[in-house]
Amino acid sequence: MDRFRIRGGRPLSGDITIGGAKNAALPLMAAGLLTAERLVLTNVPKLADIVTMRLLLEQHGVAVEPATNDGRTLSIGGPITNTEAPYDIVRKMRASILVLGPLVARTGEARVSLPGGCNIGARPVDLHLKGLEQMGATITLDGGYIAATAPHGLKGTTIVFPFPSVGATENLLMAAALADGQTVLANVAREPEITDLADCLVAMGARITGIGSDRLTIEGVKALHGATHPIIADRIETGSYACAAAITGGALHLRNGRLDHLGAVARTLREAGVEMIEENGGLTVRRLNGLHGIDFITEPYPGFPTDMQAQLMALMCVAEGASMITENIFEDRFGHAPELNRMGANIKVHGASAIVRGKPGGLSGAPVMASDLRASFGLVLAGLSAQGTTTVNRVYHLDRGYETAELKLAACGADIERVGG
Ligand code: EPZ
Repeated sequence: MDRFRIRGGRPLSGDITIGGAKNAALPLMAAGLLTAERLVLTNVPKLADIVTMRLLLEQHGVAVEPATNDGRTLSIGGPITNTEAPYDIVRKMRASILVLGPLVARTGEARVSLPGGCNIGARPVDLHLKGLEQMGATITLDGGYIAATAPHGLKGTTIVFPFPSVGATENLLMAAALADGQTVLANVAREPEITDLADCLVAMGARITGIGSDRLTIEGVKALHGATHPIIADRIETGSYACAAAITGGALHLRNGRLDHLGAVARTLREAGVEMIEENGGLTVRRLNGLHGIDFITEPYPGFPTDMQAQLMALMCVAEGASMITENIFEDRFGHAPELNRMGANIKVHGASAIVRGKPGGLSGAPVMASDLRASFGLVLAGLSAQGTTTVNRVYHLDRGYETAELKLAACGADIERVGG
């Protein structure tokens, strides 16, 4: 298993190119199941999760072909010959559940392994299943699989989400595009990745209004056609590297970074003493003076994103003063806290909240264990700042969502290397 060896204490400076958003690319690839024609996606990030989604689509019978030599353009399309999403793929990537809505909408059936829990929580999919049942699908669970059928197709209806679930919004939006009649989805998630998916579906011929709001109205159509769609830049990758500039006291220019998608992250970082300027087609980020501790809670967009919680916690470990961090989205997303404490941080977790007492004198390097995708980047951030050597183990977590992170950081002056085996 690969690990990163980092010798910290070096301010970063230089340019980092932000790639396409993983959490937009995955539902967009699943949208390729909605038409036999070719959906061409550009600005596709090169990540482990993208490879997994490609394998999943190919075993449904759909072709997923690189349309350019750099592999960042994928052409997806073709007949569906198998409507089962097997356990051995789904267990590797929970986002596999996003094929459920498109398969039922396009073929009238699907058999998708129930995604298990993961290191950040139980991750149920009840909202996905209830929504499909409300649209007329019959859902049964057997042997760890979801069996969904809609032999007469899905019917438009009104669905009010008790919680703005990102995945449930995406699954039901895709299903509604081919349903018979009008579907209203209320209290939906509003993340930029949802808007990107809706924009792509409209380009494919879907009839959707309310895009970007918490209420989507979809007039189902008989069939969707092919399209070409550019994937938006990854706002979490942008925020993560902004934290790298801040925690090392350097300055980075993040090419393609978008301030409008960073919303609460930008406000929080500014409050902590980080300057972010939109210029030259990206964002220039630098720490102004010292970092100060700030309080924040994670919320659905446009609130502070849970996917940036671990990175901000790492930053607060070296800030002046205390920070109160409340994780409202997932029930177990502080796995990085004990690892940061091994590096000399002072974090106390109490249920959904954590108190961080910052140490401006900094952390000290240590061997640490990554537990999930974003926690692993938080540990890398701590290592970049710490005195001495930090080894981050199990960076396969990080490779799921960050493309060549060690190369991007080394190119900006970090002393970081990937150690195999
Ligand atoms: C998406 O996960 C993202 N993944 C996650 O990013 C992100 O953390 C999350 O949204 C929140 O923003 C992808 O887009 C591939 P949810 P998702 O449905 O769709 C509960 C990363 O690091 N819930 O909004 O699974 C659930 O348990 C990943 O890139 C139900 O109870 O998130 C959780 O507490 C991690 N029932 C909360 O809602 C349901 O049917 C948020 O889940 C669905 C969700």
